[in-house]
Amino acid sequence: MSAADGPLLVLMPGLGAVATTFVGGVELARRRLAPPVGSFTQLGRLRWPGDGGGPGREVRELLPLAGLESLRFGAWDVAPDDAATVASRAQVFSAAHLEVVGPLLRQIRPRPGVHDPERMRRLRADHVLPRHGHRHTIARLRRDIEEMREQHGAGRAVMVCTVSTETHRPAPPWVRDLDEMERAIDADAPGVTPTMLYAYAALHERVPFANATPNAAVELPALAELATRLGVPVAGKDLKSGQTLIKTALAPALKARLLGLHGWFSTNILGNRDGEVLDDPQAFRSKELTKSGVLDSILEPAVHPELYGGYHHKVSIHYYPPRGDDKEGWDNVDIFGWMGYPMQVKVDFLCRDSILAAPLVLDLALLLDAASRGGRVGVQEWLSFYFKSPSTADGTLPVHDLFAQHRALESGVLSLADAARTSVPAAGGPRGATAAGGSRRPGGHPEGREAKPWSRR
Ligand SMILES: NC(=O)c1ccc[n+]([C@@H]2O[C@H](COP(=O)([O-])OP(=O)(O)OC[C@H]3O[C@@H](n4cnc5c(N)ncnc54)[C@H](O)[C@@H]3O)[C@@H](O)[C@H]2O)c1
Repeated sequence: MSAADGPLLVLMPGLGAVATTFVGGVELARRRLAPPVGSFTQLGRLRWPGDGGGPGREVRELLPLAGLESLRFGAWDVAPDDAATVASRAQVFSAAHLEVVGPLLRQIRPRPGVHDPERMRRLRADHVLPRHGHRHTIARLRRDIEEMREQHGAGRAVMVCTVSTETHRPAPPWVRDLDEMERAIDADAPGVTPTMLYAYAALHERVPFANATPNAAVELPALAELATRLGVPVAGKDLKSGQTLIKTALAPALKARLLGLHGWFSTNILGNRDGEVLDDPQAFRSKELTKSGVLDSILEPAVHPELYGGYHHKVSIHYYPPRGDDKEGWDNVDIFGWMGYPMQVKVDFLCRDSILAAPLVLDLALLLDAASRGGRVGVQEWLSFYFKSPSTADGTLPVHDLFAQHRALESGVLSLADAARTSVPAAGGPRGATAAGGSRRPGGHPEGREAKPWSRR
């Protein structure tokens, strides 16, 4: 693995609440004015084989990750506002925090975004690239990436897509094959979305890509194939930040106790711009699909039809402006126990949308950069932990169980740390692992674990 030398440029199509909360939080953390809570790369610990008991080592100690101080930021948006204006409108930061991060945020001005009025119907879009065809747009995005890299003197870049939720359309057949997708791009096919164009341009610039949105991108076979061909790691889609986080932690508990499920009713109220966009039924459909798919893979109704054979799963989102970014996720879970007697679980998660999402953006940027330096290519399933609808390399059903995903994340980090240890000892491979009695197998992964220790039955 090559060392994490020099600046790492984090590129964000979509300079909204999530993106600005991420950037501002990084700035506050590097000034030691706020802790990076919720970030596995900053606060996580892992046990290196042979370490024995104890709290384990910091992820940052095990893996040569880019430091917060090395991060630089670039963005595109269909509105021209700088990051300070966006953050101030989003009302996530306190006035005191906003004052500290203001100077950095004011410097982040988005480049004109790729706009498709059919995909984005509820937002102001007056800062957009001219529509001269997909190839022209891709060339322009690639030039933007090159210029931003030069501007920041950044040898490495990562793209985390944080654009608004696009309206849902059934996937055209050409998404299944890269050559066919190339022809669709040549023909300016309307099914080629802005998010696909950002991803396509990033991959051609050898920039790892994470999809924080529910929009179609690198999970599509054509783009996943492109990532593999070009040797770029990718991950997606739709950050698992609030309600789905709780759902995929609670469902495995019910399953472990073999408690039955009659129904799971999930509703959200939120008043930020994402909520406004999701008020469009076609955009909500994109979110509904990523939110609804998680239970079956955990509960396995086919294996336990008597417990999970006929449950109802309902998900809704309501735009309610007074709440702003302070989302409320309500879950009513109708379960049954011994002899079929009914019971209920109620969860009322009063959360903050962007506060939950921002550390995930940070982790994805740093881990994808490490994966890239470690020679990983294509879909990174070990990053499933971060997503509502995780992509899989071979198109098989994803694992949604939060704890299985967490084990895969740890295993993926250990595997990369193992590679780093043999290739960049000076850059901070796990120090003292051998001295501490580490039992690394020659040429293998510590403990013999593979990067993908879990799979669906
Ligand atoms: N906040 C969370 O907890 C969370 C969780 C999971 C996923 N997400 C997803 O993250 C994304 C961003 O959420 P947010 O709360 O920051 O929304 P936001 O509305 O605050 O920001 C989105 C930004 O993207 C811009 N945009 C829209 N289309 C664009 C395009 N084609 N090119 C460039 N910019 C474009 C908008 O102008 C806006 O500034 C959404 O897709 C959301 O569904 C958020």
